[in-house]
Amino acid sequence: MTVPEIRRVGVVGLGAMGAGIAQLAIEAGYATVGREVSDELGEKAYERIAHFLQRKVDKERMSEAECEAALASLSLTTELSAFADCDLVIEAVVEDLDAKLELFGALEPIVHRDAILATNTSALSVTEIASAVSTPERVVGMHFFNPAPLMPLVEIVRAELSSEEAVEAAFTVGERLGKRPIRCHDTPGFVVNRVLIPLLNDCLRVLDEARVSPEDLDTAMTAGAGWPMGPCTLVDLVGIDVHVHASEALYEKLREPRMAPPPRIVAMRNAGLLGRKTGRGFYAYD
Ligand code: 3HC
Repeated sequence: MTVPEIRRVGVVGLGAMGAGIAQLAIEAGYATVGREVSDELGEKAYERIAHFLQRKVDKERMSEAECEAALASLSLTTELSAFADCDLVIEAVVEDLDAKLELFGALEPIVHRDAILATNTSALSVTEIASAVSTPERVVGMHFFNPAPLMPLVEIVRAELSSEEAVEAAFTVGERLGKRPIRCHDTPGFVVNRVLIPLLNDCLRVLDEARVSPEDLDTAMTAGAGWPMGPCTLVDLVGIDVHVHASEALYEKLREPRMAPPPRIVAMRNAGLLGRKTGRGFYAYD
């Protein structure tokens, strides 16, 4: 495959991660297509992006003209066919292997021959996702961190059959998005989640073991270990459901007890206490 210069970027799924990735793409000057399943969800993502760009204007980190130009380069759609002209499509839909397999299978006949397909999966195998297409060399992982516009890292994940060209093109895009990309292989949790997921699970077990409150645990880890935010605040930000899913996926692959989600957060997930996105997790949000 010849990897084209990336001029047009597509983002599938405009939740917190997808909207953040689309924001990065338009700020970097890419013509960007964002897809949601309904116009309402697309509008919600657009408003979120416009809000954060406006904050940058307010703080004089961006001019009004740059903000307008960035927003004008984002087109919203509910149709996958809108990705036909994209050179790179980044998937940020729900963390469900079947959903991702179906999506990649549907995208392959739409995108042009040399387009790269990237997944932002947290803990699923990029190689398994790539098995949905007949051209797996074009599939790579581009794993962003929450909040995507603020966190500098992106893991560029090489799956078993990823081509060198696709990996390097994704790496170059990561740089243009203003990130600090790293290259890694498609192992469970890649680099950061392999370390962070069991660490967060240890933190959450301490809640019960040490009979400490979420507030005090967060104070302990920010004031005593220098974390930028405490583990309960972080899991609320990432999403309790996302964290439970990532833990389960890593436990399934590695069978290390520390990977398994503590019962307390599984119960929270089952009760719909998903963190910021539902207004309630360890903390309550407006
Ligand atoms: N999108 C875009 N812009 C955002 C944003 C978002 N989600 N959230 C905040 N901003 C903007 C806002 O405009 C804000 O300014 P404002 O309050 O004046 O409007 C500005 O960024 C700065 O925000 P904060 O004041 O909250 O920034 P902080 O200096 O407090 O830093 C932080 C925030 C970078 C998130 C920091 O607390 C941090 O590093 N936390 C740790 C996060 C972390 O570890 N993430 C990784 C999670 S694991 C993961 O994602 C893996 C996945 O696979 C599960």
